[in-house]
Amino acid sequence: MANDDIARPNQPAARTAFWEGVHNDKDVDGVSWWQSVPGLSLGLVDKAELGLDEPIIDVGAGWSTLMDHLLERGYRDLSAVDLSVTALNTVRDRLGPAGADVTLTVADVLDLRMGREYALWHDRAVYHFLTEPGERADYLASLERSLRPGGWLVVATFGPDGPTTCSGLPIVRYTHAELADQFPGYRLVDTAGEDHLTPWGTSQQFTALLLQRPLS
Ligand SMILES: C[S@@+](CC[C@H](N)C(=O)[O-])C[C@H]1O[C@@H](n2cnc3c(N)ncnc32)[C@H](O)[C@@H]1O
Repeated sequence: MANDDIARPNQPAARTAFWEGVHNDKDVDGVSWWQSVPGLSLGLVDKAELGLDEPIIDVGAGWSTLMDHLLERGYRDLSAVDLSVTALNTVRDRLGPAGADVTLTVADVLDLRMGREYALWHDRAVYHFLTEPGERADYLASLERSLRPGGWLVVATFGPDGPTTCSGLPIVRYTHAELADQFPGYRLVDTAGEDHLTPWGTSQQFTALLLQRPLS
C-alpha cells in the first residue's frame, strides 16, 4: 500500500475524500489491513468480560469483521464509525438482517459526538495515522466524550518494526509503553501484538493494548 506521493489529508473534507476514495477503488483484499478474523482485537475485547448488553464502539471500522464476530458472541449494542460511507455500506450488506440493530455512523473520530457513552472503545489502525499533536488531542477529547468512566479501551497500531506508512500515509509506530503513554491516567490491563499477514503475504507488526479509563 505504500505510496509516498499521496498528500497527507489533514482537513476533515480531505480526510473523507481520501478514505472514501480508498474504499471505492479497492476490494477488501486489496487493502493491507484486511483480516477475516480480527483475532488480536477479539482477544482483548474478551478480556474486558463485558456483559452482552454493554455498548461497544469501533472507530475507523472500515470493512472490519469485528461487528460480525461480536454479534456472533451475542453482543447486542454495537456501533461502528468511519469516514467512508462506502465502507459502512459494505458492512451493512455483509451483516444482513443479523446486523439490523448495529449502528453505523459516518463521522470523524477527531470530532466524535455520538451523544452517548460506551463501555468499550475499539480502534485498530486509526490512531497511528495521527502524526500531529493537535490531532491526538482531538482524538483524546472524542474518546473522553464517548467512553464512560471505568470503560475499556482496545487500541492497536503498527509496532516499532512495522511499516512506516499505511495506505500511503505516514504513521507513528508505537511500542507498548509508548502507546500506553498516549492515554494518561488509564490503567494498563494487558498488552498484545501480532505479525499481521496482509492479503498479499507480507507481514506487519502490530502493537495492541487493553486499557481501562479511571472511574473519575
Ligand atoms: C487502516 S484502516 C483500518 C480499518 C479497520 N479498523 C480494520 O482494522 O480493518 C483505517 C480506517 O479508518 C478510517 N478512518 C481514517 N481516519 C478516520 C477518522 N479521522 N475518522 C473516522 N474514520 C477514519 C478509514 O476510512 C479506514 O476505514
